[in-house]
Amino acid sequence: MRVAVVGSGYVGLVAGACFADLGHDVILVDNDESKLAALKNGQVPIHENYLPELLSRHRGQRLTFSGDLREAVGASAAIFIAVGTPPTERGEADLSYVESVAREITGAVDHYKVIVEKSTVPVYTSEWIRKIILRNGADPDSFDVASNPEFLREGTAVTDFLFPDRIVVGCDNDRCANVLRQVYAPLTSGSYYERTDAIPQPDRSTIPAPIIVTSTKSAELIKHASNAFLAMKISFINAVASMCESVGANVNQVCHGIGTDSRIGPRFLNPGIGYGGSCFPKDVMAFRAVARECGYDFRLLDEVMRINEDQRDRFLRKVRSALWTLRGKHVGVLGLAFKGGTDDIRESPAILIVQALLQEGCNVTAFDPAAMERTQEMMTSGLKFANSAYEAATGADAILILTEWEEFANLDLQRLNQELKYPIVIDGRNLYDPEVMAANGFTYYSVGRAAAHPDGVPAAAMKNTAKKA
Ligand code: UGA
Repeated sequence: MRVAVVGSGYVGLVAGACFADLGHDVILVDNDESKLAALKNGQVPIHENYLPELLSRHRGQRLTFSGDLREAVGASAAIFIAVGTPPTERGEADLSYVESVAREITGAVDHYKVIVEKSTVPVYTSEWIRKIILRNGADPDSFDVASNPEFLREGTAVTDFLFPDRIVVGCDNDRCANVLRQVYAPLTSGSYYERTDAIPQPDRSTIPAPIIVTSTKSAELIKHASNAFLAMKISFINAVASMCESVGANVNQVCHGIGTDSRIGPRFLNPGIGYGGSCFPKDVMAFRAVARECGYDFRLLDEVMRINEDQRDRFLRKVRSALWTLRGKHVGVLGLAFKGGTDDIRESPAILIVQALLQEGCNVTAFDPAAMERTQEMMTSGLKFANSAYEAATGADAILILTEWEEFANLDLQRLNQELKYPIVIDGRNLYDPEVMAANGFTYYSVGRAAAHPDGVPAAAMKNTAKKA
């Protein structure tokens, strides 16, 4: 099939590359000339597993890049809109980019086409897209508008796309649904997975991919409700972690106990410093705003957001309780990205914590395997960068773990201990077993678990554990 993908951001670029891998001819459209030039030149603008392979496999062949929206639409049977929907000051999704694409493509809708929303948009967006296209003179029989939300996660976006838990297609008639069924046929029939050059199947995925066909409005709601539910799961376990800290219970044990109930499930029950990224914070807020507009007061979502913010404050209080005053202290930070496996720092709780520490007069030296360049572009002063986790720890009063990178869970603990001025680790991602940390000579604080001290020395006697006081 010939498809156009409008917008070469995270979703657009991954979707375009994956559609090409499924065997479609894809035109990826963007109005940013420099971005297009970089893509044509072989650059890969985001840190994403398998994306470089897919781009080099299909660039200039099944995947082309263009600034000409109308021409791309004219040549395609399905047009996926994957432009940004940033939050407005009131927390709603700003749909002006979606609207301008809808307006601009009208002239090119000459024979039957399916216009597909792929960006995260509120319910009723498809109706608006339809209205705008009709208002600008298109024949009502020449197009349908569908919703095909994306559930990919940064860091595993390509495999999430090619090995999805489900493909959701929201269409209001069979003609439209059949076009989207055809787009995804290599995944739903399983033919893609039989290919020798298919991207390798990740653990926990089931193939072939199931497809769920719903009404357009239901599909729009599925996307927002999924993200809000996952954010709620994280806030829920963070609230439980706070209770564990109050009563001296262990949140890992609680997670295991509740996550083994198959109705609840173990995933997205990792407590920490709260969720971040370009999706959950924005989407929970937008869903809250949509609900308000529909006349439903979804206060549960207010609490989800409040707990999430509180989680950062609680962590900062933990840092203060470990170090007492912060002005002039040296702190090493492991992780700046909003989660492991990505260089994305948008709405990163790690960055917000670093900013708060700098504001309190701390000297902060950070290391992140992928996100330092982006952080440097954004934070002009104050923060120092290290070349490794051990360098970040060198001479520090404590080390803080803020992002769940796998390499931070496998540090050489003896070496880390030797680098630190005081062997104090404050782990916002629960990457270590408190007993193991204590056995390696650390005073160790984490989330929802009791602090651990070498030889069971209580926190108040912390200064006695310092090696080079
Ligand atoms: C999220 C959803 O997981 C995707 O399904 C969705 O498609 C995407 O948003 C989107 O709407 O585009 P993503 O933002 O890439 O994906 O990241 P997640 O892996 O979901 O993590 C989000 C945040 O929650 C991170 O800060 C992570 O550290 C945090 N998190 C996640 C926890 O604190 N605990 C957990 O158990 C899981």
